[in-house]
Amino acid sequence: MRIIRTVSALREALGRARSGGAASVGFVPTMGALHEGHLSLMRAAREENDLVVVSIFVNPKQFEEAADLAAYPRQERHDAELAASAGVDLIFAPDADELYPAGFATTVSVSGTIAETLEGAARGTGHFDGVATVVAKLLIAVMPENAYFGRKDAQQLVVVRRMVADLGLPVRIVGCPTEREPDGLALSSRNVRLDGEARARAAAIPRALALAESLVADGERSADVVGRAVAETLAESGVEPEYIALVDPVGFETVENIDQPVLCAVAARVGGVRLIDNTTLSVG
Ligand code: PAJ
Repeated sequence: MRIIRTVSALREALGRARSGGAASVGFVPTMGALHEGHLSLMRAAREENDLVVVSIFVNPKQFEEAADLAAYPRQERHDAELAASAGVDLIFAPDADELYPAGFATTVSVSGTIAETLEGAARGTGHFDGVATVVAKLLIAVMPENAYFGRKDAQQLVVVRRMVADLGLPVRIVGCPTEREPDGLALSSRNVRLDGEARARAAAIPRALALAESLVADGERSADVVGRAVAETLAESGVEPEYIALVDPVGFETVENIDQPVLCAVAARVGGVRLIDNTTLSVG
């Protein structure tokens, strides 16, 4: 497995692999600090493609706060070992100057409800612009047949699908299931920052989502009732939500009645750590 730093070296390596017979490239964009969630995307890519490329790039454009960017865990050597164990062929790990050279002045901006609500509202309008811009640049650099994203970041997946459709990028976007700890907590690079007590309380988030699923499975159709049940479950563990949203999974419009699949998304701070999770509520 090779670690490549520049777009030109990446294109050369991909060109050689393609002329050597690699018919399909699978791509997994990440910011590093890899865990089983990331590795599950890499394994999915490995199963479906001749060549697997992973990017590791802590994208400054999607962080609103400099301190948050500076605090993001960086552990490239360990990440490279994990990626190799998942069967990755190439790691693309550019410096910020390589993707954003002096004079860089272009932003890919997805507008409307899908980008402006929930995470877009909570993390600032620049967040999804930063994501869309870097993902567009990475897809153009790698030109994969398939690119893999986690449904844990459900809104990011929808924004990326919109951007790819609108720009006509020739890539299939694959959404992959959320990997979880045994108690249901979604894997996240941030979980290591939860102390023992906060870690135990954080399990209220998947518990609340599971309750929402079972209420709907048992026939509840009111988004308000389900939202309140989620809030109560969080409150029992002293978890204060930033938002609890029941929205349609395509346009992210708020729903009142659960008569189509509905995305139930939660963001909450637990012991100073911001966590997000979601589930899709399906009716019979
Ligand atoms: P990052 O947070 O490193 O996540 C990389 C990919 O891993 C995303 O598609 C994310 O949804 C997925 N992922 C994270 N936790 C997961 C879990 N528990 N189960 C399954 N998949 C999981 O998301 C980003 O980076 C960035 O915004 C990026 C797309 C790389 C653009 O900078």
